[in-house]
Amino acid sequence: MEGRRVVVGVSGGIAAFKAVLLVRELQRRGARVRVVMTRTATRFVGPATFAGITGRPAVSELFDTSHTGEIHVELGAWAEAMVIAPATMNLLARAAQGMADDAVLATLACTDAPLLVAPAMHTRMWERPATQRNLERLRADGVRVVEPVVGPLASGDVGSGRMAEPEAIADALGQTLRPADLAGLHVLVSAGPTVEDLDPVRFLGNRSTGRMGYAIAEAARDRGAVVTLVTGPTALAPPRGVRSVAVRSALDMEGAMQAAFPSADVVIMAAAVADYRPAAPSAQKLKKTDGPLTLKLVRNPDILAALSSARSGPRPILVGFALETENVVENARAKLARKGVDLVVANHARDGFGGDSNLVSLVSPDAVDELPRMSKRAVADRILDRARALLDG
Ligand code: C5P
Repeated sequence: MEGRRVVVGVSGGIAAFKAVLLVRELQRRGARVRVVMTRTATRFVGPATFAGITGRPAVSELFDTSHTGEIHVELGAWAEAMVIAPATMNLLARAAQGMADDAVLATLACTDAPLLVAPAMHTRMWERPATQRNLERLRADGVRVVEPVVGPLASGDVGSGRMAEPEAIADALGQTLRPADLAGLHVLVSAGPTVEDLDPVRFLGNRSTGRMGYAIAEAARDRGAVVTLVTGPTALAPPRGVRSVAVRSALDMEGAMQAAFPSADVVIMAAAVADYRPAAPSAQKLKKTDGPLTLKLVRNPDILAALSSARSGPRPILVGFALETENVVENARAKLARKGVDLVVANHARDGFGGDSNLVSLVSPDAVDELPRMSKRAVADRILDRARALLDG
């Protein structure tokens, strides 16, 4: 993490003393560190300690008149990553609610950088439903949680809730802080299902949640790319710092993809595009009759194949997905050629839907790379690694 800018947020738990070691560890790995503290944290570790080791004041007051400008805005923009360690039960609750009533949370509110939290609390607080609910919330917002470990607690009890060791937190941060190797590039990603309306109230859809495509958009953003995310309807919040274009049908998606395509350096089609749409969607709600109903469907355009035909040189790099229920790799190979793309991410329908992890093979004209099961975010980074290599020729 040589030269990377990390904000360490410290909240008020006994594990705050370990935040000092974390700052030291991050510096040992080359990071530039600045510290923000909650007021309670200052009762556990003096700001002078952090100021001494970072060479910058540790910020604990939003309204300190010795700062010029708004310190939380400045720190939030400065950060390439922010880690809150320790994160107390109270800090997690306030963060999950989107509160910004102290220096740590106001800085968090002002950053587009990846966020990590390293919870630390007594086992009873850790196991509280409210704590777990707040963590789920934060995860859904894209915050990475460095899980506490089982061990001796300050109270003398032994249980889970002991903050992860500084080295483990630094490792997690190192994974999040990818090199900005996509800076200056435009990455265009499609995600989610398309929805094909039958009438004003009914539609044909599919089970795509959009998580894989959103993970790619976030990973590309974190690696410095300008990202356009063309997304069908999903239950996910639009990622921060990404230009999101919401679409509904395959035809809408085609229009949005073609509009963004000319400036794209990499196009990744992770959307589950409907192959068919109703031939004649009804303007009025279809009435039921006693007999069966036959729907006539017509083919949708193949968006990816059309983009491939439209490209004149090696750019943009084109990546497609192949979700199959059988013969996964063979089908992916065929798709590479048929769609004229550089890489196909192949997976089995049973492995890809809904969850946070995925099991995929990266299929290119000359190789099949079977990846182990990993988080969708890690899969996203592997796909982007390949796109980066393809750009380099
Ligand atoms: O042919 P198949 O639907 O299996 O191909 C999947 C890949 O093609 C995915 O990347 C998907 O986003 C893309 N696709 C498309 N337009 C369609 C159907 C699929 O771009 N109409």
